[in-house]
Amino acid sequence: MRTLIKNIGEIFGILPENVLKKEGEEMSRVGSLKDAWMTLRDGKIEAFGPAGEAEGTCSGTFDSVMDAGGGFVLPSFCDSHTHIVYAGCRDGEFRDKIDGLSYEEIAARGGGILNSADLLHETSEDELYRQSAMRAEEVMKAGTGSIEIKSGYGLTTEDELKMLRVIRRLKENFPMEIRSTFLGAHAVGRAYAGRQSEYVDMVCREMIPAVAAEGLADFVDVFCDRGFFSPEETGKILDAAARYGIQPKIHANELAVSGGVQVGAAHNALSVDHLEQTTDAEIQVLKDNRHTMPTMLPGASFFSNLPYGRAKEFIRAGLALALASDFNPGSSPSGDMRFVMALGCIKMRLTPEEAFNACTINTAYAMGVSRLSGSITAGKRADLIITKPLPSFAYIPYCHHTPYISKIIVRSREA
Ligand code: NIG
Ligand code: FE
Repeated sequence: MRTLIKNIGEIFGILPENVLKKEGEEMSRVGSLKDAWMTLRDGKIEAFGPAGEAEGTCSGTFDSVMDAGGGFVLPSFCDSHTHIVYAGCRDGEFRDKIDGLSYEEIAARGGGILNSADLLHETSEDELYRQSAMRAEEVMKAGTGSIEIKSGYGLTTEDELKMLRVIRRLKENFPMEIRSTFLGAHAVGRAYAGRQSEYVDMVCREMIPAVAAEGLADFVDVFCDRGFFSPEETGKILDAAARYGIQPKIHANELAVSGGVQVGAAHNALSVDHLEQTTDAEIQVLKDNRHTMPTMLPGASFFSNLPYGRAKEFIRAGLALALASDFNPGSSPSGDMRFVMALGCIKMRLTPEEAFNACTINTAYAMGVSRLSGSITAGKRADLIITKPLPSFAYIPYCHHTPYISKIIVRSREA
């Protein structure tokens, strides 16, 4: 199956295949090519080049020809942090939030994650799949080509497995590149109220072996934060997962400076996520561990009225930075990466180029897929956003609410 895309106004996001993430200064550069063509073969980018060369270089036969009509071609977004498998919604808590209750106060009243766990418990696996597939479809249509999805609304072994099996079905049925993360330590399950250390032991002794036995998790995560899990508990869980070769991605510093960055870096986490608050000491920890991708979630800052992370300072310190959606029913009910990129610019003062790299190649790295996606590179997945003709690259985050997408391509096919 071979496709020619002709009449491209400009390609953005071109990278050599050995660049798997961008740090510091490099984040302000985006490789581009004006007036171009691109060919796709069997779900991958085959080649691209300047229009003048079209005749010679992209010869051969094509099963289909697309006309980009002078629009831009971008790599699809990669969303390295989501919770899109959940049951129902939490619109009641939205009212509490408007009335002035904080995320922690809602959780302390038995709402929050436990509320979602109750709903999920009552929902069949098929129904959970149906609701989750609608969200997967929604984000794919909004330009996401690779997505990480977490468990964490089960909080019993049976319900955590139910969530992870739903993620496995999404992997089977959707053309997006999907990675799954086991987040059994998202909150203490109701049956263990007041017995947090026993719950942690159960996560280590029962849940992780059960998840590993079915090969259901690519990563492990812990909500290491004030009122949830301590760095010591987090370390225990990461050690248990490491015995099965499962790499961590950590929730840290959403509600307080939690020690999650340190414990994540010490366990070679692929990413530490949230970082609404960070100290200079933590920036140093991240500088000393270049393997771990600092990931900020501006949709959670927006929705929960939390501070935005120190994005600009991270980049000035020479660090890499990723931006993901955190799509979940409690603190970020949107998986639209166009909005995430816009928040990066508007609220974190990133340049359009920095925000774009943070939402593509660096999120691809943060979910372990940057050899497969996150840039325009021959051999990578043909996951593309084709836009209408636009005045400039900056227009994308500037007019983020304008319906500027003309076609979404996932694995060479129109979604
Ligand atoms: O990333 N912080 C922890 N977990 C989610 C929120 C989950 C929820 O409230 O349902 C987050 O913000
Ligand atoms: Fe999250």
